[in-house]
Amino acid sequence: MPFVKNVLCIGAGYVGGPTMAVIAQKCPDYRITVVDINPQRIADWNSDDLPIYEPGLLEVVKSCRGRNLFFSTDIAGSIRQADIIFVSVNTPTKTYGEGAGMASDLQYWEKTAHEILKYAESDKIIVEKSTLPVRTAEAMERILKSSGNSVHFEVLSNPEFLAEGSAVKDLLNPDRVLIGGQAHPKGQKAIGELTDLYANWVPRDRIITTNLWSSELSKLVANAFLAQRISSINSISALCEKTDADVSEIARAIGTDQRIGNRFLMASVGFGGSCFRKDILNLVYIARSYGLNEVADYWHQVVQLNDFQKNRFVHRMLTEMFNTVSGKKIAAFGFAFKAETGDTRDSAAITIVEKLLEERALVRLTDPQALSNARKDLIDSSLLSFHDNPYEAAEECHAIAVLTEWPLYRSLDYHRIYSAMKKPAFIFDGRNILDHQTLHRIGFNVFPLGKSALTHF
Ligand SMILES: NC(=O)c1ccc[n+]([C@@H]2O[C@H](COP(=O)([O-])OP(=O)(O)OC[C@H]3O[C@@H](n4cnc5c(N)ncnc54)[C@H](O)[C@@H]3O)[C@@H](O)[C@H]2O)c1
Repeated sequence: MPFVKNVLCIGAGYVGGPTMAVIAQKCPDYRITVVDINPQRIADWNSDDLPIYEPGLLEVVKSCRGRNLFFSTDIAGSIRQADIIFVSVNTPTKTYGEGAGMASDLQYWEKTAHEILKYAESDKIIVEKSTLPVRTAEAMERILKSSGNSVHFEVLSNPEFLAEGSAVKDLLNPDRVLIGGQAHPKGQKAIGELTDLYANWVPRDRIITTNLWSSELSKLVANAFLAQRISSINSISALCEKTDADVSEIARAIGTDQRIGNRFLMASVGFGGSCFRKDILNLVYIARSYGLNEVADYWHQVVQLNDFQKNRFVHRMLTEMFNTVSGKKIAAFGFAFKAETGDTRDSAAITIVEKLLEERALVRLTDPQALSNARKDLIDSSLLSFHDNPYEAAEECHAIAVLTEWPLYRSLDYHRIYSAMKKPAFIFDGRNILDHQTLHRIGFNVFPLGKSALTHF
Protein backbone atom coordinates (compact mmCIF):
# COMPACT_ATOMS: atom_id res chain seq x y z
CA MET A 1 0.00 0.00 0.00
CA PRO A 2 1.53 3.39 -0.94
CA PHE A 3 2.08 5.81 1.93
CA VAL A 4 0.06 9.05 1.96
CA LYS A 5 3.12 11.12 2.91
CA ASN A 6 6.85 10.80 3.44
CA VAL A 7 7.93 12.35 6.72
CA LEU A 8 11.58 12.92 7.55
CA CYS A 9 13.13 13.87 10.87
CA ILE A 10 16.69 15.26 10.86
CA GLY A 11 18.26 14.51 14.27
CA ALA A 12 17.82 11.12 15.98
CA GLY A 13 18.21 12.29 19.59
CA TYR A 14 16.07 12.33 22.73
CA VAL A 15 13.36 14.22 20.86
CA GLY A 16 13.63 13.02 17.24
CA GLY A 17 13.73 9.29 18.07
CA PRO A 18 10.76 8.98 20.46
CA THR A 19 8.63 11.57 18.63
CA MET A 20 8.97 9.84 15.28
CA ALA A 21 8.46 6.39 16.80
CA VAL A 22 5.11 7.49 18.23
CA ILE A 23 4.09 9.26 15.00
CA ALA A 24 4.95 6.07 13.06
CA GLN A 25 2.92 3.93 15.44
CA LYS A 26 -0.11 6.22 15.30
CA CYS A 27 0.07 7.04 11.57
CA PRO A 28 0.59 3.69 9.80
CA ASP A 29 -0.09 5.26 6.39
CA TYR A 30 2.78 7.78 6.75
CA ARG A 31 6.35 6.65 5.99
CA ILE A 32 8.66 8.02 8.68
CA THR A 33 12.44 8.22 8.24
CA VAL A 34 14.84 9.46 10.91
CA VAL A 35 18.36 10.49 9.86
CA ASP A 36 21.42 11.61 11.78
CA ILE A 37 25.01 12.58 11.02
CA ASN A 38 26.10 10.17 13.74
CA PRO A 39 26.11 6.65 12.18
CA GLN A 40 26.51 4.95 15.58
CA ARG A 41 23.28 6.58 16.78
CA ILE A 42 21.46 5.26 13.73
CA ALA A 43 22.94 1.78 14.21
CA ASP A 44 21.75 1.85 17.84
CA TRP A 45 18.23 2.89 16.81
CA ASN A 46 18.25 -0.10 14.45
CA SER A 47 19.23 -2.45 17.30
CA ASP A 48 17.45 -3.62 20.45
CA ASP A 49 19.89 -1.54 22.50
CA LEU A 50 18.43 1.91 21.78
CA PRO A 51 20.73 4.93 22.25
CA ILE A 52 18.46 6.38 24.96
CA TYR A 53 16.48 4.89 27.82
CA GLU A 54 12.76 5.75 28.01
CA PRO A 55 10.13 3.51 29.57
CA GLY A 56 8.05 1.81 26.83
CA LEU A 57 10.14 3.17 23.95
CA LEU A 58 11.62 -0.11 22.73
CA GLU A 59 8.14 -1.63 22.40
CA VAL A 60 6.90 1.32 20.33
CA VAL A 61 10.00 1.23 18.08
CA LYS A 62 9.72 -2.52 17.57
CA SER A 63 6.03 -2.22 16.69
CA CYS A 64 6.76 -0.16 13.57
CA ARG A 65 10.48 -0.34 12.72
CA GLY A 66 10.88 -1.75 9.19
CA ARG A 67 7.12 -1.28 8.56
CA ASN A 68 6.77 2.51 8.32
CA LEU A 69 9.63 3.64 10.61
CA PHE A 70 13.19 3.69 9.25
CA PHE A 71 16.45 4.93 10.76
CA SER A 72 18.99 5.89 8.10
CA THR A 73 22.21 7.77 7.41
CA ASP A 74 21.12 8.71 3.86
CA ILE A 75 20.38 12.37 4.52
CA ALA A 76 20.44 13.52 0.88
CA GLY A 77 18.11 10.80 -0.45
CA SER A 78 15.73 11.17 2.48
CA ILE A 79 15.46 14.95 1.97
CA ARG A 80 14.64 14.42 -1.72
CA GLN A 81 11.80 12.01 -0.92
CA ALA A 82 10.26 13.92 2.00
CA ASP A 83 7.02 15.92 1.95
CA ILE A 84 7.37 17.06 5.57
CA ILE A 85 10.76 17.55 7.27
CA PHE A 86 11.02 17.87 11.04
CA VAL A 87 14.29 19.47 12.19
CA SER A 88 15.20 18.12 15.60
CA VAL A 89 18.91 18.81 15.87
CA ASN A 90 20.59 20.01 19.05
CA THR A 91 20.63 23.72 19.88
CA PRO A 92 22.98 23.93 22.87
CA THR A 93 24.14 27.09 24.64
CA LYS A 94 26.84 28.84 22.64
CA THR A 95 30.29 28.38 24.14
CA TYR A 96 32.23 30.87 22.00
CA GLY A 97 32.09 34.40 20.59
CA GLU A 98 29.16 36.77 20.95
CA GLY A 99 26.51 35.52 23.37
CA ALA A 100 28.82 32.79 24.76
CA GLY A 101 27.25 31.13 27.80
CA MET A 102 23.80 32.58 27.04
CA ALA A 103 22.63 32.47 23.42
CA SER A 104 21.66 29.33 21.46
CA ASP A 105 24.31 27.84 19.22
CA LEU A 106 22.48 27.60 15.93
CA GLN A 107 25.28 26.04 13.86
CA TYR A 108 23.68 22.56 13.67
CA TRP A 109 20.33 24.02 12.80
CA GLU A 110 21.80 26.25 10.07
CA LYS A 111 23.75 23.36 8.53
CA THR A 112 20.47 21.45 8.30
CA ALA A 113 18.80 24.35 6.50
CA HIS A 114 21.60 24.42 3.94
CA GLU A 115 21.37 20.64 3.43
CA ILE A 116 17.63 20.84 2.83
CA LEU A 117 18.22 23.60 0.31
CA LYS A 118 20.95 21.59 -1.43
CA TYR A 119 19.02 18.35 -1.92
CA ALA A 120 15.34 19.35 -2.16
CA GLU A 121 13.80 19.02 -5.61
CA SER A 122 10.11 19.47 -4.68
CA ASP A 123 7.99 21.63 -2.33
CA LYS A 124 8.25 20.76 1.37
CA ILE A 125 6.92 21.69 4.77
CA ILE A 126 9.78 22.35 7.19
CA VAL A 127 8.86 21.87 10.85
CA GLU A 128 11.00 23.37 13.59
CA LYS A 129 10.96 20.72 16.31
CA SER A 130 14.16 21.93 17.98
CA THR A 131 13.76 24.66 20.58
CA LEU A 132 14.83 27.88 18.89
CA PRO A 133 15.05 31.59 19.65
CA VAL A 134 11.95 33.55 18.67
CA ARG A 135 12.04 34.65 14.99
CA THR A 136 14.38 31.83 13.91
CA ALA A 137 11.83 30.75 11.29
CA GLU A 138 12.47 34.06 9.55
CA ALA A 139 16.18 33.19 9.17
CA MET A 140 15.26 29.66 8.07
CA GLU A 141 12.99 31.05 5.35
CA ARG A 142 15.72 33.41 4.15
CA ILE A 143 18.19 30.55 3.78
CA LEU A 144 15.64 28.32 2.06
CA LYS A 145 14.69 31.04 -0.40
CA SER A 146 18.31 31.93 -1.19
CA SER A 147 18.72 29.58 -4.17
CA GLY A 148 16.10 31.40 -6.22
CA ASN A 149 14.72 28.13 -7.70
CA SER A 150 11.00 27.32 -7.83
CA VAL A 151 10.90 24.89 -4.86
CA HIS A 152 8.64 26.27 -2.12
CA PHE A 153 9.38 25.69 1.57
CA GLU A 154 6.74 26.49 4.15
CA VAL A 155 8.23 26.79 7.64
CA LEU A 156 6.18 25.83 10.69
CA SER A 157 7.06 25.85 14.37
CA ASN A 158 6.01 22.77 16.35
CA PRO A 159 7.97 22.76 19.62
CA GLU A 160 8.15 19.56 21.63
CA PHE A 161 6.89 19.55 25.22
CA LEU A 162 7.70 15.93 26.17
CA ALA A 163 9.46 15.35 29.48
CA GLU A 164 12.32 12.88 29.53
CA GLY A 165 11.49 9.84 31.63
CA SER A 166 7.85 9.94 30.49
CA ALA A 167 8.43 10.77 26.81
CA VAL A 168 6.31 7.95 25.37
CA LYS A 169 3.40 8.66 27.72
CA ASP A 170 3.61 12.39 27.01
CA LEU A 171 3.73 11.85 23.25
CA LEU A 172 0.80 9.42 23.29
CA ASN A 173 -1.31 11.73 25.43
CA PRO A 174 -0.01 15.30 25.13
CA ASP A 175 -1.57 18.18 27.10
CA ARG A 176 -1.46 20.04 23.80
CA VAL A 177 0.28 20.12 20.45
CA LEU A 178 1.37 23.58 19.37
CA ILE A 179 1.68 24.52 15.70
CA GLY A 180 2.72 27.99 14.59
CA GLY A 181 2.62 29.17 11.00
CA GLN A 182 2.13 32.12 8.68
CA ALA A 183 -1.30 33.66 8.11
CA HIS A 184 -1.16 33.48 4.29
CA PRO A 185 -2.94 30.60 2.46
CA LYS A 186 0.19 28.48 1.98
CA GLY A 187 0.99 28.84 5.69
CA GLN A 188 -2.54 27.85 6.67
CA LYS A 189 -2.49 24.89 4.28
CA ALA A 190 0.75 23.65 5.87
CA ILE A 191 -0.73 24.06 9.36
CA GLY A 192 -3.69 22.00 8.17
CA GLU A 193 -1.43 19.18 6.91
CA LEU A 194 0.49 18.97 10.18
CA THR A 195 -2.75 19.15 12.16
CA ASP A 196 -4.09 16.20 10.14
CA LEU A 197 -1.01 14.17 11.01
CA TYR A 198 -1.40 14.75 14.77
CA ALA A 199 -5.17 14.30 14.59
CA ASN A 200 -4.51 10.60 13.99
CA TRP A 201 -4.38 10.30 17.78
CA VAL A 202 -4.55 13.75 19.41
CA PRO A 203 -8.05 15.25 19.87
CA ARG A 204 -8.34 18.31 17.63
CA ASP A 205 -9.24 20.62 20.52
CA ARG A 206 -5.80 19.90 21.97
CA ILE A 207 -4.04 21.04 18.80
CA ILE A 208 -3.38 24.75 19.27
CA THR A 209 -2.45 26.89 16.28
CA THR A 210 -0.78 30.29 16.60
CA ASN A 211 1.43 32.61 14.63
CA LEU A 212 5.04 31.47 14.18
CA TRP A 213 6.57 33.78 16.76
CA SER A 214 4.11 32.91 19.53
CA SER A 215 4.83 29.23 18.96
CA GLU A 216 8.62 29.66 19.03
CA LEU A 217 8.49 31.86 22.14
CA SER A 218 5.94 29.64 23.95
CA LYS A 219 8.48 26.83 24.22
CA LEU A 220 11.05 29.05 25.94
CA VAL A 221 8.35 30.49 28.19
CA ALA A 222 6.99 27.05 29.15
CA ASN A 223 10.43 25.88 30.27
CA ALA A 224 11.10 29.18 32.06
CA PHE A 225 7.83 28.88 34.02
CA LEU A 226 8.50 25.24 34.96
CA ALA A 227 12.04 25.97 36.12
CA GLN A 228 10.81 29.06 37.96
CA ARG A 229 8.52 26.90 40.09
CA ILE A 230 11.44 24.67 41.05
CA SER A 231 13.59 27.65 41.97
CA SER A 232 10.68 29.16 43.89
CA ILE A 233 10.17 26.12 46.10
CA ASN A 234 13.94 25.62 46.46
CA SER A 235 14.32 29.19 47.69
CA ILE A 236 11.70 28.43 50.33
CA SER A 237 13.50 25.19 51.30
CA ALA A 238 16.49 27.32 52.38
CA LEU A 239 14.24 29.47 54.53
CA CYS A 240 12.56 26.38 56.04
CA GLU A 241 15.91 25.02 57.22
CA LYS A 242 16.45 28.25 59.16
CA THR A 243 12.98 28.43 60.71
CA ASP A 244 11.90 24.81 61.38
CA ALA A 245 9.10 25.14 58.86
CA ASP A 246 8.72 22.07 56.60
CA VAL A 247 8.89 22.58 52.83
CA SER A 248 6.69 19.53 52.09
CA GLU A 249 3.98 20.85 54.40
CA ILE A 250 4.21 24.22 52.70
CA ALA A 251 4.00 22.61 49.25
CA ARG A 252 0.85 20.78 50.35
CA ALA A 253 -0.65 23.88 51.93
CA ILE A 254 -0.13 26.12 48.92
CA GLY A 255 -0.59 23.41 46.26
CA THR A 256 -4.22 22.82 47.23
CA ASP A 257 -4.95 26.37 46.08
CA GLN A 258 -6.20 25.73 42.56
CA ARG A 259 -4.65 28.97 41.35
CA ILE A 260 -1.24 27.58 42.31
CA GLY A 261 -1.69 23.84 41.69
CA ASN A 262 0.29 21.04 43.27
CA ARG A 263 2.79 20.03 40.60
CA PHE A 264 6.46 21.02 40.41
CA LEU A 265 6.54 21.89 44.09
CA MET A 266 9.09 19.29 45.22
CA ALA A 267 12.20 20.79 46.74
CA SER A 268 15.35 19.23 45.29
CA VAL A 269 19.07 19.62 44.72
CA GLY A 270 18.16 21.72 41.69
CA PHE A 271 16.84 21.32 38.19
CA GLY A 272 18.93 19.86 35.39
CA GLY A 273 18.51 18.36 31.95
CA SER A 274 19.48 19.69 28.58
CA CYS A 275 16.70 22.27 28.35
CA PHE A 276 15.84 24.35 31.41
CA ARG A 277 19.11 26.22 31.90
CA LYS A 278 19.76 26.52 28.18
CA ASP A 279 16.28 27.80 27.34
CA ILE A 280 16.13 30.32 30.20
CA LEU A 281 19.57 31.69 29.36
CA ASN A 282 18.40 32.02 25.79
CA LEU A 283 15.29 33.89 26.96
CA VAL A 284 17.49 36.16 29.08
CA TYR A 285 19.77 36.81 26.11
CA ILE A 286 16.85 37.61 23.81
CA ALA A 287 15.26 39.98 26.37
CA ARG A 288 18.57 41.77 26.86
CA SER A 289 19.13 42.05 23.12
CA TYR A 290 15.85 44.01 22.94
CA GLY A 291 17.02 46.26 25.82
CA LEU A 292 14.59 44.65 28.29
CA ASN A 293 17.08 44.41 31.14
CA GLU A 294 14.48 44.11 33.92
CA VAL A 295 12.87 41.16 32.13
CA ALA A 296 16.28 39.57 31.58
CA ASP A 297 17.34 40.02 35.22
CA TYR A 298 14.06 38.56 36.46
CA TRP A 299 14.49 35.29 34.55
CA HIS A 300 18.24 35.10 35.13
CA GLN A 301 17.54 34.86 38.85
CA VAL A 302 15.81 31.49 38.27
CA VAL A 303 19.13 30.03 37.07
CA GLN A 304 21.15 31.77 39.77
CA LEU A 305 18.88 30.37 42.48
CA ASN A 306 19.40 26.90 41.01
CA ASP A 307 23.18 27.31 41.30
CA PHE A 308 22.71 28.55 44.87
CA GLN A 309 20.71 25.42 45.74
CA LYS A 310 23.41 23.05 44.43
CA ASN A 311 26.16 24.91 46.28
CA ARG A 312 24.07 25.08 49.42
CA PHE A 313 23.58 21.30 49.40
CA VAL A 314 27.32 20.63 49.31
CA HIS A 315 28.00 23.34 51.89
CA ARG A 316 25.52 21.71 54.25
CA MET A 317 27.17 18.32 53.82
CA LEU A 318 30.50 19.86 54.67
CA THR A 319 29.38 21.75 57.74
CA GLU A 320 27.31 18.88 59.14
CA MET A 321 30.16 16.41 58.65
CA PHE A 322 32.36 18.43 60.99
CA ASN A 323 33.65 20.81 58.29
CA THR A 324 35.58 18.26 56.30
CA VAL A 325 34.83 15.41 53.93
CA SER A 326 38.45 14.89 52.92
CA GLY A 327 39.21 11.18 52.82
CA LYS A 328 35.62 10.29 53.73
CA LYS A 329 33.66 7.88 51.56
CA ILE A 330 30.38 9.30 50.26
CA ALA A 331 27.87 7.27 48.27
CA ALA A 332 26.08 9.33 45.62
CA PHE A 333 22.68 7.70 45.01
CA GLY A 334 21.74 8.73 41.49
CA PHE A 335 23.41 10.74 38.76
CA ALA A 336 20.70 11.16 36.09
CA PHE A 337 19.09 14.61 36.10
CA LYS A 338 15.79 12.95 37.03
CA ALA A 339 14.40 9.46 37.54
CA GLU A 340 13.49 7.12 34.64
CA THR A 341 16.16 8.45 32.31
CA GLY A 342 19.85 7.82 31.71
CA ASP A 343 20.31 11.44 30.59
CA THR A 344 22.83 13.34 32.70
CA ARG A 345 23.04 16.57 30.71
CA ASP A 346 23.34 19.49 33.17
CA SER A 347 22.39 17.15 36.02
CA ALA A 348 22.69 18.77 39.46
CA ALA A 349 24.66 15.64 40.43
CA ILE A 350 27.53 16.69 38.15
CA THR A 351 28.15 19.88 40.14
CA ILE A 352 27.66 18.17 43.48
CA VAL A 353 29.99 15.25 42.75
CA GLU A 354 32.64 17.58 41.30
CA LYS A 355 32.50 19.78 44.40
CA LEU A 356 32.77 16.76 46.72
CA LEU A 357 35.81 15.59 44.74
CA GLU A 358 37.34 19.08 45.08
CA GLU A 359 36.92 18.62 48.83
CA ARG A 360 38.87 15.34 48.45
CA ALA A 361 35.92 13.11 49.36
CA LEU A 362 35.99 9.54 47.99
CA VAL A 363 32.82 9.46 45.92
CA ARG A 364 31.17 6.11 45.21
CA LEU A 365 28.64 6.66 42.47
CA THR A 366 25.63 4.49 41.71
CA ASP A 367 22.70 4.90 39.28
CA PRO A 368 20.49 2.31 37.57
CA GLN A 369 20.71 3.92 34.10
CA ALA A 370 23.25 6.74 34.02
CA LEU A 371 26.63 5.21 34.89
CA SER A 372 27.93 5.13 31.32
CA ASN A 373 27.10 8.83 30.86
CA ALA A 374 28.56 9.59 34.30
CA ARG A 375 31.86 8.02 33.24
CA LYS A 376 31.98 10.47 30.31
CA ASP A 377 30.88 13.51 32.36
CA LEU A 378 33.38 13.21 35.18
CA ILE A 379 37.13 13.54 34.92
CA ASP A 380 38.93 10.32 35.74
CA SER A 381 39.99 10.41 39.37
CA SER A 382 41.38 7.93 41.89
CA LEU A 383 38.85 9.44 44.33
CA LEU A 384 35.90 8.29 42.20
CA SER A 385 34.41 4.83 41.68
CA PHE A 386 31.27 3.52 39.94
CA HIS A 387 28.96 0.83 41.30
CA ASP A 388 25.93 -0.87 39.77
CA ASN A 389 24.81 -2.00 43.19
CA PRO A 390 23.75 0.67 45.74
CA TYR A 391 24.56 -1.65 48.69
CA GLU A 392 28.11 -1.98 47.40
CA ALA A 393 28.32 1.80 46.82
CA ALA A 394 27.33 2.52 50.43
CA GLU A 395 29.72 0.01 52.01
CA GLU A 396 32.14 1.62 54.50
CA CYS A 397 30.74 5.07 53.61
CA HIS A 398 30.41 7.97 56.05
CA ALA A 399 27.46 9.43 54.18
CA ILE A 400 24.88 8.89 51.46
CA ALA A 401 23.71 11.75 49.26
CA VAL A 402 20.48 11.08 47.35
CA LEU A 403 20.79 13.04 44.10
CA THR A 404 18.15 11.43 41.83
CA GLU A 405 14.61 10.44 42.86
CA TRP A 406 14.78 6.83 41.60
CA PRO A 407 11.94 4.90 43.36
CA LEU A 408 14.48 2.08 43.87
CA TYR A 409 16.17 4.12 46.61
CA ARG A 410 12.98 4.10 48.66
CA SER A 411 12.80 0.33 48.87
CA LEU A 412 16.39 -0.48 49.86
CA ASP A 413 17.13 -2.29 53.12
CA TYR A 414 18.51 0.61 55.16
CA HIS A 415 19.19 -1.63 58.21
CA ARG A 416 21.64 -3.55 56.04
CA ILE A 417 23.10 -0.34 54.57
CA TYR A 418 23.50 1.26 58.02
CA SER A 419 25.29 -1.73 59.49
CA ALA A 420 27.85 -1.66 56.64
CA MET A 421 28.55 2.09 57.00
CA LYS A 422 31.05 4.04 59.13
CA LYS A 423 29.54 5.71 62.21
CA PRO A 424 28.20 8.30 62.69
CA ALA A 425 26.33 7.61 59.45
CA PHE A 426 24.76 10.51 57.54
CA ILE A 427 22.05 10.67 54.88
CA PHE A 428 21.52 13.87 52.91
CA ASP A 429 18.26 13.41 51.05
CA GLY A 430 18.51 15.84 48.15
CA ARG A 431 15.15 14.70 46.78
CA ASN A 432 13.14 14.20 49.98
CA ILE A 433 12.09 10.73 48.86
CA LEU A 434 13.15 8.62 51.86
CA ASP A 435 11.30 7.83 55.08
CA HIS A 436 13.27 10.14 57.35
CA GLN A 437 11.74 9.02 60.68
CA THR A 438 12.53 5.36 60.01
CA LEU A 439 16.08 6.18 58.93
CA HIS A 440 16.56 8.17 62.12
CA ARG A 441 15.27 5.26 64.20
CA ILE A 442 17.75 2.95 62.44
CA GLY A 443 20.54 5.23 63.60
CA PHE A 444 21.22 7.59 60.71
CA ASN A 445 21.69 11.34 61.09
CA VAL A 446 19.19 12.51 58.52
CA PHE A 447 19.35 15.80 56.63
CA PRO A 448 16.31 16.29 54.39
CA LEU A 449 15.88 19.38 52.22
CA GLY A 450 13.85 22.20 53.69
CA LYS A 451 13.03 20.33 56.90
CA SER A 452 14.59 20.03 60.33
CA ALA A 453 17.47 17.58 60.57
CA LEU A 454 16.98 14.39 62.60
CA THR A 455 20.26 13.74 64.42
CA HIS A 456 21.61 11.75 67.33
CA PHE A 457 24.09 14.39 68.50
N1 LIG B 1 15.64 16.51 25.41
C1 LIG B 1 14.44 17.01 25.70
O1 LIG B 1 13.78 16.65 26.68
C2 LIG B 1 13.84 18.09 24.81
C3 LIG B 1 12.48 18.39 24.97
C4 LIG B 1 11.93 19.34 24.14
C5 LIG B 1 12.70 19.98 23.18
N2 LIG B 1 14.02 19.69 23.06
C6 LIG B 1 14.78 20.36 22.01
O2 LIG B 1 14.89 19.47 20.89
C7 LIG B 1 16.15 19.65 20.22
C8 LIG B 1 16.88 18.33 20.17
O3 LIG B 1 17.15 17.92 21.50
P1 LIG B 1 17.68 16.45 21.83
O4 LIG B 1 17.66 16.33 23.30
O5 LIG B 1 16.94 15.46 20.99
O6 LIG B 1 19.20 16.57 21.29
P2 LIG B 1 20.21 15.38 20.98
O7 LIG B 1 21.56 15.95 21.11
O8 LIG B 1 19.83 14.17 21.78
O9 LIG B 1 19.91 15.01 19.45
C9 LIG B 1 20.22 15.84 18.37
C10 LIG B 1 20.72 14.97 17.23
O10 LIG B 1 20.87 15.78 16.07
C11 LIG B 1 21.97 15.27 15.33
N3 LIG B 1 22.41 16.26 14.37
C12 LIG B 1 23.05 17.43 14.60
N4 LIG B 1 23.29 18.08 13.45
C13 LIG B 1 22.78 17.30 12.46
C14 LIG B 1 22.72 17.43 11.03
N5 LIG B 1 23.20 18.50 10.40
N6 LIG B 1 22.14 16.44 10.33
C15 LIG B 1 21.64 15.34 10.96
N7 LIG B 1 21.67 15.17 12.29
C16 LIG B 1 22.23 16.14 13.03
C17 LIG B 1 22.99 14.92 16.39
O11 LIG B 1 23.96 14.02 15.92
C18 LIG B 1 22.09 14.33 17.50
O12 LIG B 1 21.99 12.92 17.39
C19 LIG B 1 16.88 20.75 21.00
O13 LIG B 1 16.62 21.98 20.38
C20 LIG B 1 16.22 20.71 22.36
O14 LIG B 1 16.28 21.95 23.01
C21 LIG B 1 14.60 18.73 23.84
